[in-house]
Amino acid sequence: MIRFDILTIFPAMFESPLAGSVLKKAIDKGLIEVRLHDIRDYATDKHRMTDDAPYGGGGGMVMKVEPIDRALLAVPRVDERVPVILLTPQGEPFSNAIARELSGHRQIVMVCGRYEGVDERVRQHLVNREISVGDYILTGGELAAMVLIDAISRFVPGVLGNSFSSADDSFSGGLLEYPHYTRPPDYRGWKVPEVLLSGNHREIEKWRRREALARTRKRRPDMIGDEWLTDEDLI
Ligand SMILES: C[S@@+](CC[C@H](N)C(=O)[O-])C[C@H]1O[C@@H](n2cnc3c(N)ncnc32)[C@H](O)[C@@H]1O
Repeated sequence: MIRFDILTIFPAMFESPLAGSVLKKAIDKGLIEVRLHDIRDYATDKHRMTDDAPYGGGGGMVMKVEPIDRALLAVPRVDERVPVILLTPQGEPFSNAIARELSGHRQIVMVCGRYEGVDERVRQHLVNREISVGDYILTGGELAAMVLIDAISRFVPGVLGNSFSSADDSFSGGLLEYPHYTRPPDYRGWKVPEVLLSGNHREIEKWRRREALARTRKRRPDMIGDEWLTDEDLI
């Protein structure tokens, strides 16, 4: 069981991604829980302001530190180790390895920025980790937080129906995954490789490994390291 506490000014953005498929089932089974905290509820002035103009001038608005601090103080933490993550394009690049590591926690807190971002003091004093979902700029941290929730939840035992599904995925074994086919065996002359129809499991395994290696070499040569290669791969 893992609990996500999300601080956002747009909690409604999380409703539909969590209302279907794997994540909905995981919530229904009590394997994950997502608690949404509206930062506006922690604003200190009568207009419920969560942003203000930047010191030093320049365009855009900056999310204020006090409402985020107050919202974080209102979220009880299950232990000292709870990751408190700021979603930011300046953070460490998110990966499957980080998703797996984070799935080992009982609770994860995430802060979603908006506008020009958050007051620097949030980064300096209130969070203990910063994560980016890629080298591009989103309008806010909500979609990034959803990406983390989705990828982390896949590693929570019981969330994926078939316990082997995540072990074979791209990145899990250091390679991109092999290609998949399903019926029919011939569609408009586009044939499924013979070996997959052969029923010979040893040959199928060898073919899948070869395909995974070939497509990783072609598409992501940066991922190929000796540590992933077996003696058979090197022949
Ligand atoms: C428009 S962005 C602010 C970008 C900021 N001015 C900068 O250049 O670093 C607003 C918010 O969206 C979120 N965000 C945008 N791109 C992101 C990314 N690649 N990864 C994670 N969060 C992102 C962050 O929470 C950020 O505070």
